[in-house]
Amino acid sequence: MILCYSDKCRKDAAGTAEEKRHRNRQKETSDGRQRDKKQKGKGKMEILKCEDISKIYGAGETEVRALDHVSFTVEKGEFVSIIGPSGSGKSTLLHILGGVDRPTEGKVFIDGTDIHSLNEDKLAIFRRRQIGLVYQFYNLMPVLNVDENIALPHLLDGRPLDQERLDSVVEHLGLSDRRRNLPNQLSGGQQQRVSIGRALYSHPAILLADEPTGNLDRKTGEEIVGLLKESNRKNSQTLILITHDEGLAMQADRVIGLEDGRIIRNEKVRNIV
Ligand SMILES: Nc1ncnc2c1ncn2[C@@H]1O[C@H](COP(=O)(O)OP(=O)(O)OP(=O)(O)O)[C@@H](O)[C@H]1O
Ligand SMILES: [Mg+2]
Repeated sequence: MILCYSDKCRKDAAGTAEEKRHRNRQKETSDGRQRDKKQKGKGKMEILKCEDISKIYGAGETEVRALDHVSFTVEKGEFVSIIGPSGSGKSTLLHILGGVDRPTEGKVFIDGTDIHSLNEDKLAIFRRRQIGLVYQFYNLMPVLNVDENIALPHLLDGRPLDQERLDSVVEHLGLSDRRRNLPNQLSGGQQQRVSIGRALYSHPAILLADEPTGNLDRKTGEEIVGLLKESNRKNSQTLILITHDEGLAMQADRVIGLEDGRIIRNEKVRNIV
């Protein structure tokens, strides 16, 4: 009898927790819709402007023009995918947008701030607060475990650890049984998921992701992209994603195509709902 009763209690409690999660999800979605409505009412808001960017590596015989006068703008909450052949300048562009590399010429404005006019310290703070960057080759801290790597930018910013959020991100990324492992004890796909977790955890205004599914099997890749898209939708977060996967690229609001460091395509995607 007692067992039966406590089972029911557990079920009721689970029901209540599930109901609470459902209510929270509904509230988040409706908050997002209200933000969208307000935004639509006010007209479109430009969050990123990339003005005549060029990037030259090396000099003389080894000189490479990785980007050649690239200009475009991105609106707040937009999902843009960047496609192009290997060596076309995609990662170079993302690093310049993310403030981890400087252009040879041109400017990047994020929310009106000319980011490359900031000194190193100010740029580092700006980056931590506004930008989440998922690197093509992960860029994890080798001496920190999964939890520490994910929370690092947030903690460096002097903000307290949000344990509930960390647990939720780790669980969503399927890393619950690897939380105390160091990067060299993880597979490539797991390291990629940690790098995505690091970008998601601190709720940045702009999420820049360089081939985030490159090392994942199709199913895990789709789940991860689902998470990025959900974060983009719910929080009006701007998402710029590099991919070789045409199907994935077409899930965006807009596709930008690069070739030899130049934009050869910049067009809205007609999403069939
Ligand atoms: N640090 C560097 N020094 C010299 N050349 C570089 C450097 N980084 C990139 N390049 C060159 O700049 C060009 C653009 O490179 P980038 O990594 O941006 O290409 P990508 O489009 O991301 O390619 P992939 O799809 O293979 O990742 C390439 O020709 C590359 O060799
Ligand atoms: Mg690249």
